[in-house]
Amino acid sequence: MFKINENYMKLPGSYLFSTIAKKVNAYAGANPDKEIIRLGIGDVTLPLAPSVVSALHSAVDEMADASTFKGYAPDLGYEFLRNTIVENDYAPRNCGIKADEIFISDGAKSDSGNIVDIFGDGNIIAVTDPVYPVYVDTNAMSGRTGVYNQETEMWSDVVYMPCIKENNFTPEFPEKTPDIIYLCLPNNPTGTTLPKSELQKWVDYANENGSVIIFDAAYEAYITSEDVPHSIFECEGAKTCAMEIRSFSKNAGFTGTRLGFTVIPHELKCGDIELHSLWARRHGTKFNGAPYIIQKAGEAVYSEAGKKETLDQVKYYMNNAKIIREGLIKAGYEVFGGVDAPYIWMKTPDKMTSWEFFDYLLNEKNIVGTPGSGFGPSGEGYFRLTAFGSLENTERAIKRITE
Ligand code: MLT
Repeated sequence: MFKINENYMKLPGSYLFSTIAKKVNAYAGANPDKEIIRLGIGDVTLPLAPSVVSALHSAVDEMADASTFKGYAPDLGYEFLRNTIVENDYAPRNCGIKADEIFISDGAKSDSGNIVDIFGDGNIIAVTDPVYPVYVDTNAMSGRTGVYNQETEMWSDVVYMPCIKENNFTPEFPEKTPDIIYLCLPNNPTGTTLPKSELQKWVDYANENGSVIIFDAAYEAYITSEDVPHSIFECEGAKTCAMEIRSFSKNAGFTGTRLGFTVIPHELKCGDIELHSLWARRHGTKFNGAPYIIQKAGEAVYSEAGKKETLDQVKYYMNNAKIIREGLIKAGYEVFGGVDAPYIWMKTPDKMTSWEFFDYLLNEKNIVGTPGSGFGPSGEGYFRLTAFGSLENTERAIKRITE
């Protein structure tokens, strides 16, 4: 008889956003006359920028012509895109990243989940609490998290770094030294971030302890503060202890188009072994590359027009963030984030639990958000709203919440 991966049986419930979608669909089905405003999952609402759409059209035409048709993409991604990424994202910040250290993929979620493949059993992972659930769930699927405790909502073998109001939602060095440290900055879900001097401390810590940092920079386009680094490779010594995951979803609206990349410097090694060569092996074996037309669309994000158009989109969402932040503060709510990130992290009112507030907003105000406790036990009593809605819906949602 075949056997299943028993680790899946240890996972609690379903994926956070699937649970929310089920609840919302049930409510919508029972109340077809209600108009629901969705500020839950961080999914964009603006259409793709004109430069991106034009690049997609041209690429489709190339695929329709035998002389320009493309089959399998190169394992690590097309050079035109990898070179463009280096020129635009890394060279201007003196990160010293080379094109052959960039692996193009179908998105940051896939990369942050798949990366567990190249790490051995017995690694201790450290995550912030609250945290983007993919990091923990994918480690649980590969049997690296121990036993799940329903009461504490924690795994026995995971090191949790609480990010709470008392420490400005920033992680502190844990008592137990981890092997793999996940950092998402600007942070999902709290919307907070770290200045370069603080991130440098994490790089030094990882180098001193032989840990690796998996740095999720999916929200870097939303940074407005001067002292906040856009890449971990702006920190000295990061190339020997960190890899970085980036996305085209949030800066250019590719949530449905799918494109991302991971940077693994050659200097990042375990003994003599480069993690780069392991990820290249994994990529070559299990992945056939992001489609040519999508990589061309990604290249267009970095064209002069593309940069302007996508920056305008980011500004549009950050205006929503401001509306949410200021509207809630004015109404007396305690609010965090929303300055360097498209997420607003609010304290639930009247000591409601995160799910109580979720139910209240859905049933009474017809608004969907994300319960903080879904991101980890330290998220209890908090609630996340996304700035990725339309301006009109954002304004209406804040009016509904605060009236
Ligand atoms: C979120 O809402 O946390 C994100 O949209 C999830 C994701 O990017 O996968």
